[in-house]
Amino acid sequence: MKINSSKVLIIDFGSQYTQLIARKIRESGIYCEIYPFLSSIEKIKDFNPAAIILSGGPSSVYDKNAPSISDELFKIDVPFLGICYGMQITAYLFSGNVKPAKNREYGYSKLEITKKSELFDGCGDNNTVWMSHGDIIVSPPKDFIVTSKTENGNIASIENKEKKIYGLQFHPEVAHTLCGHKILNNFLFNIAEIKKNWELSDFIEDKIKEIKTEISFDDNAICALSGGVDSTVAAAIVSKAIGKKLICIFVDNGLLRENEAKDVVKFYKENLSLNVKFVKAEKIFLSALKGVSDPEKKRKIIGKLFINIFEKEAEKIKNAKFLVQGTLYPDVIESVPVYGASSIIKSHHNVGGLPKKFNFKLIEPLRELFKDEVRRIGKKLDIPDAIIERQPFPGPGLAIRIIGEVTAVNLKMLRKADTIVSEEIKKNNLYNKLWQSFPVIIPVKTVGVMGDKRSYESLIAIRAVTSSDGMTADFAKLDYDVLRQISSRIISEVKGVNRVVYDISSKPPSTIEWE
Ligand code: XMP
Repeated sequence: MKINSSKVLIIDFGSQYTQLIARKIRESGIYCEIYPFLSSIEKIKDFNPAAIILSGGPSSVYDKNAPSISDELFKIDVPFLGICYGMQITAYLFSGNVKPAKNREYGYSKLEITKKSELFDGCGDNNTVWMSHGDIIVSPPKDFIVTSKTENGNIASIENKEKKIYGLQFHPEVAHTLCGHKILNNFLFNIAEIKKNWELSDFIEDKIKEIKTEISFDDNAICALSGGVDSTVAAAIVSKAIGKKLICIFVDNGLLRENEAKDVVKFYKENLSLNVKFVKAEKIFLSALKGVSDPEKKRKIIGKLFINIFEKEAEKIKNAKFLVQGTLYPDVIESVPVYGASSIIKSHHNVGGLPKKFNFKLIEPLRELFKDEVRRIGKKLDIPDAIIERQPFPGPGLAIRIIGEVTAVNLKMLRKADTIVSEEIKKNNLYNKLWQSFPVIIPVKTVGVMGDKRSYESLIAIRAVTSSDGMTADFAKLDYDVLRQISSRIISEVKGVNRVVYDISSKPPSTIEWE
């Protein structure tokens, strides 16, 4: 089983930190994947892991429908590390005494190492760890020992050295656990004895070779470019493999930011030598959006039109058999629903699900990668920070930042305000610290005084949030001076606006975009 394996499998019980565990392991140079807890033992064995990590999760082992795994799993002869819920379910399955806690416990705790453990080698005595748990282990299962406690005297880690099964009550993957990186590396390199096997430069070379053999000499590939990091890096890799046989299509839907379409396409052609077809479609989009105020209708119209235009362009390209997409690993992980499976809040259609009628074969060079890995690959390919570090921009563009009907006048106003927000945020070195920062036009007019005259003009809201993945977000605590500068510049430079407000809502319950 262990022979030739150097991959780690993470079994997900729905923790918000599961992807973070995977990223930390990859940063340590080891390839890993995430499977949901419902995966069959056969599927897990087929992956041929060198070690298995059981993630945390929001449940108690005593919950009705608590996620569980078959105890057959532990018959796979590899080291195991259970984190938080992963440790509680391990202890429970091995008949340890697990007690449901009355309240979930969050936050920092001091760790006291009570027994020498390979897991804590090099960690020193005084360790702060990050807890987020429901259940508590009162006594460990038979043949397991307790190796550390928290300052409250609760069991913080257990292990069965002979079977190589380890459990942590705290989260080693989060930065607040000071020794977390060391603990994970001790598990991976010393206990599981895995060798480094994940290096991004090798990844690029391997992908290029793979794509070269997949796309035969007579065939072409097409790709929809959006100006975002994912489609740009995907196209850059494929173009290194097949050169001008990759034909990229950039649709200017008129809903982009100031000069964006022009600048981005110039960069694609001049710096990446991409073969780009520029399709100017502003008028078509604007007339399709005429009179439409409902956000979901806007999204559907924009998504459908985009596909129609893309299809028409694709039809003109001879022997286009392959479609390149910037799909990332988080898009393909079978996720364990944390907020409930049914809650689709907004229909997100990126340039993702493209034309089905052509029967294209998909080329998804980034399918195994997390966003930070894509960024690092982008840097290795000399793609400038202006693209690599770009804040996310939604597929429907400015249309969902104009509340109500999208008109040419509103778009002009919003573009100007957007340029100002972006300039001020960058000037104050905030751009990379924020997940997103942008203005929104609200369809009300308010009274003001300009000079000696009464004004009755439009309202703009500023939205700036911090977030690690866009799933949850907090409003950014921007300095008043930065806000004042943004507000006064917008009011004096954007004609038709006399008031600026700042959005202080977090997600949930609000969303990042206003529509
Ligand atoms: P919300 O507004 O749902 O946004 O909190 C979360 C993230 O998704 C982006 N977003 C979209 N992206 N098409 C996209 O490609 C969409 O329709 C869309 N709606 C929201 C948003 O900018 C944020 O990063």
